[in-house]
Amino acid sequence: MIRLSYGRVLQEGLDGRRGITRPQLTELARQFRGVHAEVMARRKAGEYGFLSLGNQASLVREIRTWADAQQGRFDDLLVLGIGGSALGTRTLLSALAEPAWNELTPEQRGFRPRLTILENVDPRTVAAALRRMNPARTLVNVVSKSGGTAETAAQYLVVRDWLNRAVGTAAAPHHLVFTTDPEKGALRQLARTESITAFPIPSDVGGRFSVLTSVGLVPAALVGIDIAGLIAGAASAVAQAESDDLLTNPAGCYAALLHAADVEHGAHIHVLMPYVDRLRDLGAWFVQLWAESLGKRESRGGQVVHRGPTPLAAVGATDQHSQVQLFMEGPFNKVVTFVMPDDLGDDVTIPTLDGLTSDFDYLPGHTLGELLRAECEATSAALAHQGRMNAMLRLPDVSAESVGALLMFLQIATGYAGVWYGVNPFDQPGVELGKTLTFAAMGRPGYTAPPNGGVEATVG
Ligand code: PA5
Repeated sequence: MIRLSYGRVLQEGLDGRRGITRPQLTELARQFRGVHAEVMARRKAGEYGFLSLGNQASLVREIRTWADAQQGRFDDLLVLGIGGSALGTRTLLSALAEPAWNELTPEQRGFRPRLTILENVDPRTVAAALRRMNPARTLVNVVSKSGGTAETAAQYLVVRDWLNRAVGTAAAPHHLVFTTDPEKGALRQLARTESITAFPIPSDVGGRFSVLTSVGLVPAALVGIDIAGLIAGAASAVAQAESDDLLTNPAGCYAALLHAADVEHGAHIHVLMPYVDRLRDLGAWFVQLWAESLGKRESRGGQVVHRGPTPLAAVGATDQHSQVQLFMEGPFNKVVTFVMPDDLGDDVTIPTLDGLTSDFDYLPGHTLGELLRAECEATSAALAHQGRMNAMLRLPDVSAESVGALLMFLQIATGYAGVWYGVNPFDQPGVELGKTLTFAAMGRPGYTAPPNGGVEATVG
């Protein structure tokens, strides 16, 4: 379902000087058999839990039934979460809900709620969101795998107070749904004591791999996205990754090429550049997935290695008038991956107008879709001509199936990349350190701040 065009990562598809050579590709294919075997072994040992997410028929039915019962009850759905507990939901909303969803009338939305995601604790954003919503007509989805992240906990307290005041403490739990660990954590505990509806995040699936768990499925179902389609797409991507033959396993091939581009060809920056607005938020989701999974101080073996590529998000054609200048002529330290659907959904024909200046003559009769596609192909070809490695992920369309497949494809590629880089893609000690320091800074008992390592230096 997801096709990877990789000819322009290879030397023969570039300027003949840079890029991966055929013998290198053969060597990658040889090594991939071991990489694939390691993933399978680790999966058996309990890692790689996300690979089972193509298999969730009963959870999908449960969420759909519950979400359908909420239809018409709420005008707004407010999601509280951060990092992996928010970025995937934002991606699903922009890819699969009608464009400008929150601006549609209730009828146009099929009496499904508007969706607002609060990630940051910027007080102005939070206050403005709460001013705009009517608490009596709002459902709040609190999403936290650990159940204890400071930003989400603080938002919860603010929003809970807002609900309590408006609808009363007895009714407030009916305006709440939690998505959290099946057993542990403060949210699970609260759900039990207050009988708040709570959906589980499988304990073997980490935050940034959780978009296809209840984390993304609950809000997606509430706004009417086809969650069965998402999961069917995910299953197809898992099936595509069964082979240990590099050239028949697109996610495996993608990870192998990006790793080789980084460590053998100096392309330390991995750019993801979808060419449709509906996939605009995929970039931020990918950045977290790739950065937090692969950016590690230590190898699996415990050596200090400070490894990891730097992901970067761009959007075509918009960034052709911005970052592409750097991609085209700056340092040879990037590999760009375009994402292009075969079917763009809507298309718009460019009309002929009377008295048209001859400068615009080349446009009428074409469609905006043709222009967008031509720009994507032209940018890819131009980069190759300049000796810049680039690849293309092609998907049939921007449907639930294709998006589910694309998300799973990138997760699988991340799982393979963890093996290539020799790091554990499922931990995040750096993020945990930040969480601990936040607790200390806010005076949480049992947490102490480290000695100040910086020097105060201010200008202006
Ligand atoms: O991928 C991760 O583990 C993190 O980015 C988490 O998603 C993020 O820190 C939020 O954590 P939690 O869902 O526990 O609130």
